[in-house]
Amino acid sequence: MTEPPESAAPGPRPDVCVIIPAAGSGVRLGEQSPKAFVELHGRTILERCVDQISGLDAAVVVVAPADLVGEARSLLPPQIRVVAGGAHRSESVRAGLAAAGDAQIILVHDAARPLTPASVFHRVIDAIRAGHRAVVPGLPVADTLKAVEPIGDDLALVTRTVDREPLRAIQTPQGFTREAFVAAHADDAGLATDDAGLAERVGIPVHVVSGHPMAMKITTPWDLSVLRRVLHSGEVGS
Ligand code: C5P
Repeated sequence: MTEPPESAAPGPRPDVCVIIPAAGSGVRLGEQSPKAFVELHGRTILERCVDQISGLDAAVVVVAPADLVGEARSLLPPQIRVVAGGAHRSESVRAGLAAAGDAQIILVHDAARPLTPASVFHRVIDAIRAGHRAVVPGLPVADTLKAVEPIGDDLALVTRTVDREPLRAIQTPQGFTREAFVAAHADDAGLATDDAGLAERVGIPVHVVSGHPMAMKITTPWDLSVLRRVLHSGEVGS
């Protein structure tokens, strides 16, 4: 079978590359297929994720499970690059970087957040262009937060209440200048869940812009059913 061309876009290459790690198994979702290939109101989570940014002036690299690279290619437009991921998220992200060409702004966006509005990508990119080296979207925390010490099967002792005022729940896409991204990942032990955390560890300042409720992450069957209902009702944000 002939492979589709990796880049069909004419003209100069965009200086932004969005890496979409989609190589996780998603066991907590309890579905047959890996999370990115689960159906979400008529399309896969991965297709929805890519659809959201179809108007963005950016190259897109999808990192798929090694045995589903062909499947991902067949689902996605031909200009989207698809490469095989690794055992850990950070390995998958690095596989994505290797396919990112010479883009100077790198965004990493979890496939598990398939309804993230394009406006969030624009805010992150604008803040990087304004001179910040690492930028993440985040939302204020609504719940009261308490630190606890587990003491039984379903019992824990509250040790203190945490001030939620300075806290933000961080989403993706997380954006970086290329040099910051490479520096952050150079020091990765392999188990990071968050790229900005790696940047913090090497002393790179990380800035936060507004996230969006629709950037919620699908982890559990409940999350999936919430997004299915949102799509069914047509209440998708912008
Ligand atoms: O497991 P979790 O939901 O935190 O994964 C976040 C994102 O990282 C998902 O989009 C998942 O597909 C991706 N991932 C990956 N390679 C792995 C593990 C996770 O691309 N080995």
